[in-house]
Amino acid sequence: MLMNAATSTSQLIRIVFLGDLNGGPGRTALRHGLPHVHSTYSPHCVVANAENLKNGSGITPDLYAAIRKDGLDGVTLGDHVYRDRKVLPLLENPAEPISRPGNLSEHAPGKRFFRIELPSTPGEPPVTVWFFSILGRVGMGLPANDPFAAADEILASIPSPSNTRPIVFVDAHMEATAEKAALAHHLDGIVTAVLGTHTHIPTADARVLPGGTAFQSDVGMCGPYDSIIGRDPEPVVRHMRTSVHTPYTMGQGGERISGACVEVDVSTGRARSIRSIVYPEFDNGI
Ligand SMILES: [Fe+2]
Ligand SMILES: [Fe+2]
Repeated sequence: MLMNAATSTSQLIRIVFLGDLNGGPGRTALRHGLPHVHSTYSPHCVVANAENLKNGSGITPDLYAAIRKDGLDGVTLGDHVYRDRKVLPLLENPAEPISRPGNLSEHAPGKRFFRIELPSTPGEPPVTVWFFSILGRVGMGLPANDPFAAADEILASIPSPSNTRPIVFVDAHMEATAEKAALAHHLDGIVTAVLGTHTHIPTADARVLPGGTAFQSDVGMCGPYDSIIGRDPEPVVRHMRTSVHTPYTMGQGGERISGACVEVDVSTGRARSIRSIVYPEFDNGI
């Protein structure tokens, strides 16, 4: 939920971005993990990619309402964006903080980005945070336009506060780590954070790039980690071993939330720090 955390002395805010929210186990992880996130990081807002919310693929208005009630302030989406068409009016509604990927066809329905206005803090100017996702072109099922050009185009339409850059979070929804890193370096110093999603596995490379953009190749998923990226292992292994089409089912067990907390200097729009989040932590057997 939006929090009135103190910014009066530092002009620092903290934004938590969570990776792909995966089915019912993802919601379970979210409900159990959000209290920990709030007590540990005191975020000013929490946003997640929720492309896998409907049993692993897509999202519906009812599920969107449910996770908003659970405590999410906004939602980005990926290649599963249109798996359930009931989401279309929601994507078209300018008042709802949910957007489709920003580099689909010009005829694709839905907003390309959204903004969240943080609750004002006494003595401080209002703070707006912008979010959008961008699909990769390497190894993705849904055709997409040039991620770099699309990001530049969206950024050109985002207004800058006077004397500084806007606070912008980019969800790099891509398969290839190199493509995610390339987008992050292209946008270094221009956006606040480039955070990877889609591969569902948290990477150990969270850092602030030289220009001040926070980056992590993949922030992981919120869902069942006793699985193959959210799916029951048995049919996935059988499919890979036999090549015969096999319906996948949701995995279960090992529910965790995963994401990143980015500390932002409001006066510059740049990231001060990034900390990856996995909760509960993995058991390394040590
Ligand atoms: Fe996903
Ligand atoms: Fe995806």
